[in-house]
Amino acid sequence: MALSSEGKFEYPTGRAGAEGLGYDPVFISEASPSLLKSFCGVGNPFSLGAIEPGATVLDIGNGAGFDLYVASRLAGETGRVCGIDLTREMVDLARQNLAESGLTNIEVTHVSSEKIPYDDNTFDTVISNGVINLSPCKQELFQEIFRVLKKNGKLQFADVVLEKELPGALAGSPEAWSQ
Ligand SMILES: C[S@@+](CC[C@H](N)C(=O)[O-])C[C@H]1O[C@@H](n2cnc3c(N)ncnc32)[C@H](O)[C@@H]1O
Repeated sequence: MALSSEGKFEYPTGRAGAEGLGYDPVFISEASPSLLKSFCGVGNPFSLGAIEPGATVLDIGNGAGFDLYVASRLAGETGRVCGIDLTREMVDLARQNLAESGLTNIEVTHVSSEKIPYDDNTFDTVISNGVINLSPCKQELFQEIFRVLKKNGKLQFADVVLEKELPGALAGSPEAWSQ
């Protein structure tokens, strides 16, 4: 996905995906095409609660950086926005995309979400979009999220959930689990 988004997903991605998920049209129109091109979120974490000016926000699995961009616009210059992602290519792409957008309060770290490289009680809001389902260590991940959230902080995430057991052939297919 970091290299090309063509033909890899069963659901709308890129700009069409963000439009369909109800992101603020102002952010969609003002984000650079490269920020939007590799967006592959499955929902809109910002629809679940406001990000206040000055907020500290962590995005788990930031991908190409569109949600970091939106969080940074909402948190403003006095806010602090951090992203972590497991994939080197995504980290490089997000850093490049965000540097081009001129926002200065964002940092992106190459690390797996099961070990979040921030102190306890750091973030007002943790967001994530289409990532937690990919983690093989969900218990550790949720423990880490609640460790870095401030007391009364909020976790706002969108994800893929199973509503019933998968049939045998699909259940054994890594491709099915990742698309
Ligand atoms: C479906 S994409 C979603 C990307 C981004 N949130 C978006 O909405 O465009 C999944 C992302 O999660 C990252 N990822 C997968 N497993 C991860 C893990 N255990 N820790 C951190 N990032 C992970 C991938 O590298 C990829 O960038």
